[in-house]
Amino acid sequence: MTSATSRIAILISGTGSNMCAIVDASRAEGWPTEIALVLADRPEATGLERAAARGISTACVHYRDFRGRRAEFDLNLVEELRRSRVDWVVLAGFMRILGAEFLAAFPGRVLNIHPSLLPKYPGLNTHARALAGGEVDHGCTVHLVSDALDAGPIVGQARVPVLEGDTVETLAQRVLLQEHILYPAMVRKAISGQLG
Ligand code: GRF
Repeated sequence: MTSATSRIAILISGTGSNMCAIVDASRAEGWPTEIALVLADRPEATGLERAAARGISTACVHYRDFRGRRAEFDLNLVEELRRSRVDWVVLAGFMRILGAEFLAAFPGRVLNIHPSLLPKYPGLNTHARALAGGEVDHGCTVHLVSDALDAGPIVGQARVPVLEGDTVETLAQRVLLQEHILYPAMVRKAISGQLG
């Protein structure tokens, strides 16, 4: 653990409910942390407004401006993050896959939350696949990001039951409530140097 304040960037693509949970926990619990930037890959990500309402700097690197030029997109992200002097990158519903060069810029310091009990159901549509798979439980995983999709070292998981009559929506809602508890706790652990 560094005694200095950690500077965190949170990357989003959508509503940013996990981002809000992390920001709110960091403030309520007095983490030695500054949420230096909330960055989206699309301007319509409503989480940008929620971040701004919390007084956090926001930026957007629009993926559409980089069609077929993924490395350049990554480079622009890295530049934004370096401008904000970020130590940790927290992906919270960020829908882009980051390349090796991005990861090399923040070695061992990129976290993600995935809505399944990895290694089950990497990729998309996890709730529908868990229902179709007849799972009795489901959940979410926080992991360090590696260059294999949804397969970096697992930092923590939260489990929920799959209930009779569950739909994708009811199950997603149950998992999301757990995400909002698990992710802040795991980010706090990471910045405290307690990931082992
Ligand atoms: C969460 O379920 C997260 O696990 C997934 O996308 C959703 C993002 O929700 N990757 P939000 O933007 O944090 O509200």
